Amino acid sequence: MFTVVGTATVDLFVSNLAAMPRSEGDEFTVDSLVFHDQPLRTSLGGNGANSAYALARLGTTVELVGGLGDDHLGNWMADQLVDAGVGMQSVRRYPGKGTATTLILSDRQQNRLAFHHEGANRAVDSSSLDSSLIRGSDILLLTSYPIMPGLRPQGAVELFREAGQGDTRTAVDIGPAIGEPALLEELRPLLACTDYFICNEHELAVCTGGAELTAGMAAVLEGGAGCVVIKRGAAGAVVLQRENGDIASAGPTGGPAFVPGFSVEVQTTVGAGDSFNAGFLLAVQEGASAEQAARFANAVAATVVSTPDRPLDALSREAVNRLIEPT
Ligand SMILES: Nc1ncnc2c1ncn2[C@@H]1O[C@H](COP(=O)(O)OP(=O)(O)OP(=O)(O)O)[C@@H](O)[C@H]1O
Ligand SMILES: [Mg+2]
Repeated sequence: MFTVVGTATVDLFVSNLAAMPRSEGDEFTVDSLVFHDQPLRTSLGGNGANSAYALARLGTTVELVGGLGDDHLGNWMADQLVDAGVGMQSVRRYPGKGTATTLILSDRQQNRLAFHHEGANRAVDSSSLDSSLIRGSDILLLTSYPIMPGLRPQGAVELFREAGQGDTRTAVDIGPAIGEPALLEELRPLLACTDYFICNEHELAVCTGGAELTAGMAAVLEGGAGCVVIKRGAAGAVVLQRENGDIASAGPTGGPAFVPGFSVEVQTTVGAGDSFNAGFLLAVQEGASAEQAARFANAVAATVVSTPDRPLDALSREAVNRLIEPT
């Protein structure tokens, strides 16, 4: 059983606009009000909600720890998660706070404007963490680290130490790269109790003060993490792990194991990283090596990126296995 701690955010998309509206005072004008023939799309988002949803779609048991507002978007989000089978015992509703939202406007010229309200995600702190849930989980994923101010850094360390009291393996994703970045110095106490450290290449470079990929991965292992997993977009992922206290290869060649991505036609990259995390940790839980788990995770993420509408709903074991072993 999995526990995922992270953000739950409703994404609102207004896409494919002929032109971006321009702000021109408080009256509607031909420039400030743009007619649009497509409806606004509402989508489940936030790293915690996405990963928990993906794990549930892949058929495993998962509890989400997070916050929602006491509002209609919070109700909508909760319904989506419950329908997918995500356990919601530790998702608190915060009266007086709004559910976190990101409104994303984009036009046909590829311009993008986004408005984010952190809402209830900011309210999540150590008091949301149930120690029997943490200790009873096989794997604990803490995601959205930079944008969970109530857990950063001490709450996160306490959470991982709690996991260490049981047999719970710990994973942290230090993305997304927004807000105050998570630097190695801040993360050191957390790394000592982290089994899997996950992020993308850019986030690793920021975290390690600009280190080159392999050197950056080694620095994270030297900091105490058991295994480093770096996501590389279409190129897939690279993993490096510690064995018996030594920094060792996850692959057969004596260096980090580069695990190529699947070649698919990309429809959306929203949710790619979160579904990768779900796939990686599910495979680990089922006994896969880090390298095997990265391959499964690439297939999970490729299934998501190649699906245009409600991409996380495309996830199932069968869909992922079809990509891994086409008949
Ligand atoms: N164009 C693509 N083709 C195939 N697979 C992809 C593509 N883009 C992303 N993926 C898959 O999704 C995974 C995660 O994507 P990415 O490397 O962008 O991580 P991230 O930045 O953490 O995620 P996100 O962009 O969702 O925040 C990759 O490791 C890969 O498996
Ligand atoms: Mg990315």
